[in-house]
Amino acid sequence: MIKSKRQLPNPKYFFSLIDWKLPSLNRSKSLMAKTFTVADIAKVAKKKVPKVVFDYVEGAALEEDGIARSRATFARAEFYPQILRDVSNIDTTTKILGKKVDLPIIFAPTGYTRLMHHTGEPAVAQVAADRNMVYCLSTMGTTSPIELAKAVPDSRRWFQLYLMKNRVDSLNIINQARENGFETLVVTADTPVLGIRIRDARNGMTVPPRIRLSTVLAIAMKPRWWANLLTTPPLEFAAFRGWSQTLSELAPLIFDSSLSYKDIQWLQTVWEGPIVVKGVQCKEDAVKLAKIGVQGIVLSNHGGRQLNRGTVPLEILPEVVAAVGKKMDVYIDGGVMSGQDVYAAIAMGATAVMIGRAYLYGVMADGQRGVEKVIDILKTELINSMGLTGTRTVAEIKEAGIRIRPIG
Ligand code: GLV
Repeated sequence: MIKSKRQLPNPKYFFSLIDWKLPSLNRSKSLMAKTFTVADIAKVAKKKVPKVVFDYVEGAALEEDGIARSRATFARAEFYPQILRDVSNIDTTTKILGKKVDLPIIFAPTGYTRLMHHTGEPAVAQVAADRNMVYCLSTMGTTSPIELAKAVPDSRRWFQLYLMKNRVDSLNIINQARENGFETLVVTADTPVLGIRIRDARNGMTVPPRIRLSTVLAIAMKPRWWANLLTTPPLEFAAFRGWSQTLSELAPLIFDSSLSYKDIQWLQTVWEGPIVVKGVQCKEDAVKLAKIGVQGIVLSNHGGRQLNRGTVPLEILPEVVAAVGKKMDVYIDGGVMSGQDVYAAIAMGATAVMIGRAYLYGVMADGQRGVEKVIDILKTELINSMGLTGTRTVAEIKEAGIRIRPIG
């Protein structure tokens, strides 16, 4: 029987093991210090904002199985590792619409970002600028194109457009985007009508939030969030400044249910830069859009927030890339929560992924610092997956490929 030699405890050795750092008095800092994954950050986010806000971000349409299927498909991605390939230098850079970026990740357009944290859209765009990434501002943003350009002049920025019934209103906002250095128009085409969001209906979600008895209780629970809301400029859809309607009144004006291919062709005549169509959910549409000459598409089920029982973007990605990948960029979104998910999407043929909820968890948890942490986590995980699969570049991830494990 082997026995360890015993000795008297050595106080010097004991004290050398003690971590003398005092816990931070800043609650955000100490909560964020214990986050190691995007899911951890989502837990902090939940503590920081009222339920109505968190549910708006986290929620999806109807039974919410569209987003669940996207997540489940990412979880079934099985990588194809090769060993002994010298991975001492890993390069995550790639090209998006022909220009170099540091990561194959784009900040998706998200509405009402100042509702999640008072610093809102500029905080996210600042991270994009600092990390050489693309930030896409939403038509439903709480910061206007002019304000965003002023706040973060050196950000590489795209503008997401909901083509409105009134084309003059649309032209005004398109012109504002052009004049303020937005290089690409991202046309969302999966919202001919708004998805049915049960959580929002149950929570009575409005922008700005209405003060009711339950709201007073919510203020007591999240006083800092409310203080920030009430001490910064009023929340509004910046693109519709001066319009007095509520979201439900605005919706039929903003989302044009008659949108068709002709409108995309019209946009090509009024916008000189690249056009990306977001919300493609089948190969046939990808092929038609390639034919009319748009520069990119986003395979997207809108994070499961629109059609609940649609296709899973990751599943249709290979056939879409095979059909149109040589003619245009193909991005994918919906449920990307880790560097492993980014790897999976690239290995299946995507040019890049868009993230929405993932960075919004960071915004809700800790504003700009929270977004930085999300990007740090995604990057670290992506580099780790690359190292462990023997892929040194984004191109090598594509060559390596993956398979989606069959269910069961
Ligand atoms: C807006 O685009 C949303 O999904 O809420």
